[in-house]
Amino acid sequence: MSKSQEYASRAEAVFLPNYRPAPVALDRGEGAFVYDVDGHRYLDLVAGIAVSALGHAHPALTRAVAEQVNKIAHTSMLYLNAPAVELAEKIIGTCFADQLYFCNSGAEANEAAIKVARRAAWDRGDKDRVRIVSFVHSFHGRTYGALAATAQPKYHEGFGPMPEGFDYVEPGDPEALAKVVTERTAAVIIEPIQAEGGVREHPPGFLAAVRQICDAAGALMIVDEVQTGFGRTGRMFAHQHEGVEPDIMSLAKGIAGGLPLGAMVCRAEVGKSLVVGTHATTYGTNPVACAAGNAVMGVLTQPGFLEQVDAVGATLRAGLTELGLRHRGAFTAVRGKGLLIGAELGPDVGFDAKALVEACRAQGVLTHVAGPRVLRLVPPLILTEGQAVEGLQAIDRALSTLM
Ligand SMILES: Cc1ncc(COP(=O)(O)O)c(C=O)c1O
Repeated sequence: MSKSQEYASRAEAVFLPNYRPAPVALDRGEGAFVYDVDGHRYLDLVAGIAVSALGHAHPALTRAVAEQVNKIAHTSMLYLNAPAVELAEKIIGTCFADQLYFCNSGAEANEAAIKVARRAAWDRGDKDRVRIVSFVHSFHGRTYGALAATAQPKYHEGFGPMPEGFDYVEPGDPEALAKVVTERTAAVIIEPIQAEGGVREHPPGFLAAVRQICDAAGALMIVDEVQTGFGRTGRMFAHQHEGVEPDIMSLAKGIAGGLPLGAMVCRAEVGKSLVVGTHATTYGTNPVACAAGNAVMGVLTQPGFLEQVDAVGATLRAGLTELGLRHRGAFTAVRGKGLLIGAELGPDVGFDAKALVEACRAQGVLTHVAGPRVLRLVPPLILTEGQAVEGLQAIDRALSTLM
């Protein structure tokens, strides 16, 4: 029995069955590669689901984390710490926002976003303005508020009653949205690209239409950039491709390159509603996570870094399109921006995305799904052109074993 298999059987005994991990125990990483406990090497095109932005064991990240943990690992918000203040300043310097709140995950960032949107209306005396509008195929997290905003019934099943006050609408249809957004709407929440829901892009101009519909109805606009943020799409934040500014943005995943950190950022006019005592979390502003965040920001803001994300993403998308044709319609659509990429399996393909992920792994490449029919690539942002080509060659071999 391999060491990975041994961990797999031990894990099955002690972990709840809500995850089904591959029977591979990862031991260490280096750049865009990871190694399992048996010494097998894999090219990582999944980055812990769009998290490990700098790849693995990046010297800037390891140095920042080691130095910080040697000094102080936790302060709570009873006291300040320098890495958190510095990271907040850097994030705010790259976007529309004035202020932020640090938390630990994407779901928590969305909880804070929903709460601040409702509270801001309440503070204005607009006490019926409580409804949150979200889009079919969205994904905002698994805690109750974020889950209620996630307009995919399969995630709600058996967990009812859901919190009240959520409305759902098809994405890409401004007229339908305008009917749902009313004087009772506190906010509309939207992912600039619906990542978990199948790497679905909105039609050009849709984010601007959401902004305009929110403004007309007096509602706030929340962009959920948990997956699309921090350079993932080739811009610091994906809504910046469209030149649209939201009121609130939720962040997590790539923000700290693998340490648990999230943030809800917003305009001061909105955020002023979270007065002392209204919202908090023990680990918010954790200095180790924030030191990691500063290291990530340092790399992401180097000249040419985001252009490289764009270029390597283009190579992967072109390569997947070509593979789709060569393997007789294996992929019918290749979507996404930068290094958030989805390749949809053709209708006649007799296997699902999970089977393709397993076949890729057998060829030494880690990938992921976005729903049953979409192969998702969300590699470290430091992926090189050469590594992208290596990944495509492995996906080519994987398709050959399945087609
Ligand atoms: C767009 C989006 N929002 C929120 C979340 C939830 O984040 P977390 O798993 O950190 O709670 C995710 C996770 O995949 C996501 O993709």
